Amino acid sequence: MTRASMVLAGIALTFLSCADPVLSDAISAQGAETSGVDKGEFHRAGQPCGLCHQEGGPASGSPFTVAGTVFAQPLRQVGVEGAEIRMTDAEGTTHIAKTNCVGNFKVTPAEWVPKFPILVEIGKGNVRRTMRSTIGRDASCAGCHSTTLEIADPLSQVGHIYLFATDEPGSPEGTADCAVDPKRPGTK
Ligand code: HEC
Ligand code: HEC
Repeated sequence: MTRASMVLAGIALTFLSCADPVLSDAISAQGAETSGVDKGEFHRAGQPCGLCHQEGGPASGSPFTVAGTVFAQPLRQVGVEGAEIRMTDAEGTTHIAKTNCVGNFKVTPAEWVPKFPILVEIGKGNVRRTMRSTIGRDASCAGCHSTTLEIADPLSQVGHIYLFATDEPGSPEGTADCAVDPKRPGTK
């Protein structure tokens, strides 16, 4: 073995043994639960749900095949209730998920196990937005769609998912009788 190949083998080993720490770092980077919001359908709006809701994650008992959050506006993070997420997989099967009042939606393995890549379109009433590219394998919309309004790396990240150009017509602050504040904590 040459010195260079020994170094390479060392790097490969280090990388392999880091697989779990990388996942747990990514999970702890999501921070603690928001106080007053139970672990459940209304929590962690805008975060990469699939990071935790997968085998090996802290919510492995409730895995999702696809999940994310739809906000109303490009520059504010207020959840849209009743938005449809229409998905089509590589075999042409389709599934429609609906958002709750913080904008969260999820697909369980019992509902749909897509064959990636998938195409996605969101809509409510007569407003719709289509993602032009396909989702290769990430179960989390927020794997790419960042909730950070200043995007650090525009080549690999896009802003949060939003449906309307301005406020949601009729309810700029989101659904009034939502169990939790439909505005993402810590945002305008
Ligand atoms: C940092 C980790 C983490 C993230 C990110 C996360 N969750 Fe969770 N979630 C949990 C944990 C832990 C539980 C409680 C254990 C469980 O139900 O498996 C939970 C529970 C839930 C439940 C209740 C499941 C059940 O069967 O009772 C739902 C629904 C849920 N989360 C939806 C979401 C959605 C939607 C997102 C993304 C917008 C999300 N979660 C993001 C960790 C997370
Ligand atoms: C692999 C990265 C990635 C993932 C995962 C991803 N997106 Fe996207 N999305 C993008 C990129 C890049 C764009 C902008 C270019 C385009 O439309 O393809 C985009 C654009 C969009 C748009 C159109 C925005 C506009 O201005 O009209 C919508 C809607 C959207 N995504 C929804 C979703 C939903 C819903 C999910 C999860 C089911 C998701 N995306 C997951 C990368 C991603």
